[in-house]
Amino acid sequence: MAKILKKKTLAPLIHLMEVAAPEIARKRRAGQFIILRTHEEGERIPLTIVDSDTTSGTITLIFQEMGYSTKYMAALNQGDDILDLCGPLGKATHIEEFGTCLAIGGGVGVAPLYPISKALREAGNEVICVIGARNKELVIMEPEFRSAIGEVHVCTDDGSYGFHGFVTQKGKEILEGPNPVQLIVGIGPVPMMKALVDTMRPYNIPIVVSLNPVMIDGTGMCGGCRVEVAGKTQFACIDGPEFDGTAVNFDLLIRRLRTYNPQEKEAMESHACRLGVKS
Ligand code: NAD
Ligand code: FES
Repeated sequence: MAKILKKKTLAPLIHLMEVAAPEIARKRRAGQFIILRTHEEGERIPLTIVDSDTTSGTITLIFQEMGYSTKYMAALNQGDDILDLCGPLGKATHIEEFGTCLAIGGGVGVAPLYPISKALREAGNEVICVIGARNKELVIMEPEFRSAIGEVHVCTDDGSYGFHGFVTQKGKEILEGPNPVQLIVGIGPVPMMKALVDTMRPYNIPIVVSLNPVMIDGTGMCGGCRVEVAGKTQFACIDGPEFDGTAVNFDLLIRRLRTYNPQEKEAMESHACRLGVKS
């Protein structure tokens, strides 16, 4: 059991939770994630560890209500327990002094981008962050990025705040500016990461993306998280979740992410009453 010590809604359907997990808080490194189950029949939900506090023994998780399990989780409150929580999982981000890094996050992908940007900054890199969302209301973590990183560009698709356009457009503008970039990190919805790689590939700068396939065990046993990178099958849970973006087969990932849509729809319909009771 892991107790929820704090819950905060950051934007419509996007929530932050601080959860008691002292061992994970002590061990985790940037880029790693946990898998949790809220209750006995709950799906296993992989979530990046956004931050941790070794003094209070807590980890910070940010998630978006998407299907039945995340809606169930969103109905939990401070003081409730999460049934089980396993981690830290996955390879930590490779951090070194690269020079100037361009960190680009779209939507909820801004949350997993935060620990990586922070670790790159702490390693002595200059980090330029571009974070974006569909509109102003959906922009998350801007204050945290501003205080930990420094240079932050906010974009909205509808122009309601900051740069009017996609994060990929702003990122391209920065690449064409006076400051040479040595590393690009991009996290967000798969079409965004695909567009990012397509846009940035001509500049021949290494591009790291963090993939979010369906995960079950998180230990390389079930094969649920398989992705194709450089023509080879890789397991995002143990070989990733970060990979060379230029080598990822995004079309296959998009197809695989749609595999369980019918079951998700069925789960939402059959458990609708239960969610009503919880919320
Ligand atoms: P969204 O669809 O609102 O997009 C967020 C931003 O990404 C947009 O504002 C835009 O700047 C950019 N973007 C989106 N599509 C683009 C495109 N085709 N070309 C260029 N830029 C584009 O994002 P959302 O609703 O927050 O996304 C949720 C999705 O993100 C879910 O599918 C979730 O699984 C995924 N996600 C992925 C990760 C990860 O680790 N890769 C982490 C969290 C969430
Ligand atoms: Fe099962 Fe990765 S989640 S192999």
